[in-house]
Amino acid sequence: MDTFTLIQITDTHLSRARPEFAGNFEVASQIIQQDKPDLVVHTGDIAVEATARSDDLLFGKEAMDSLNTPFRAIPGNHDVGDNPSDHGYVPPKPVTDALVQTYEDHFGPDHWAIDQAGWRLIGLNAQLFSSGLVREKQQHDWLVRMLAETDGRPVAVFCHKPLLRDAIDEPVDVPYRYVPLVNRDPLAATMDAADVRLFACGHVHQARDHWRGNTRHVWCPATAFTLPDDVQPRVGDKRCGLVSYRFSPDAVEVDLQFPPAMLHPEVEVLRKVYAL
Ligand SMILES: [Fe+2]
Ligand SMILES: [Fe+2]
Repeated sequence: MDTFTLIQITDTHLSRARPEFAGNFEVASQIIQQDKPDLVVHTGDIAVEATARSDDLLFGKEAMDSLNTPFRAIPGNHDVGDNPSDHGYVPPKPVTDALVQTYEDHFGPDHWAIDQAGWRLIGLNAQLFSSGLVREKQQHDWLVRMLAETDGRPVAVFCHKPLLRDAIDEPVDVPYRYVPLVNRDPLAATMDAADVRLFACGHVHQARDHWRGNTRHVWCPATAFTLPDDVQPRVGDKRCGLVSYRFSPDAVEVDLQFPPAMLHPEVEVLRKVYAL
């Protein structure tokens, strides 16, 4: 296959018990079923809060199955809990082996690799960084192997959290937003051993498209909602949407889309679903 089309969605925050964001998922669903990409990748926060209600993941799986399109997913902090991070950050709902296992029971492996159109596409579980779980080292060792076996092909990495804001060694403003500083050098060194052209993430609920060296960093806009500036500092574009990719040997086209039909919930709705 010379080309491979992919739609990335992220941060759908779905729940049978809290259906406030279901309308925007329906808009994404219509686009996906119209465009018929070869693959959908969900980069995490499928659920409103799976650490509190495991049914959120089941509902999210039902929603993804309803797309009638092949898909792969990776977990976010609202799916499996969050990881410790910079400045001594201890998450209120930490990632655990049991939560990751429950996620995998619904969605399959929390990290994966696919070879298409001359590329290697890799999904990573960002919630394992600095977790200390056995899974963290297993994933790192697996990633080293996956990147060593690319034979010069370009690589795209999908990961819930951004690797960086502007630089690997920057002062970090929000510790739970990015890959922890202590994990960045080993991860970047691992990726530098291969030709990683794309690092695509979610989590921030802001859209962004920027470069570090030869790697394009794409922050996929959230499906569910954005946050007001007084709750979350503005770094990128605060609109809901999705990203379309067309991979071909040695190239990828990237198209950030912001469907006008995706609504932006009022902050009162967000406060009702999440205590802001
Ligand atoms: Fe999110
Ligand atoms: Fe997140």
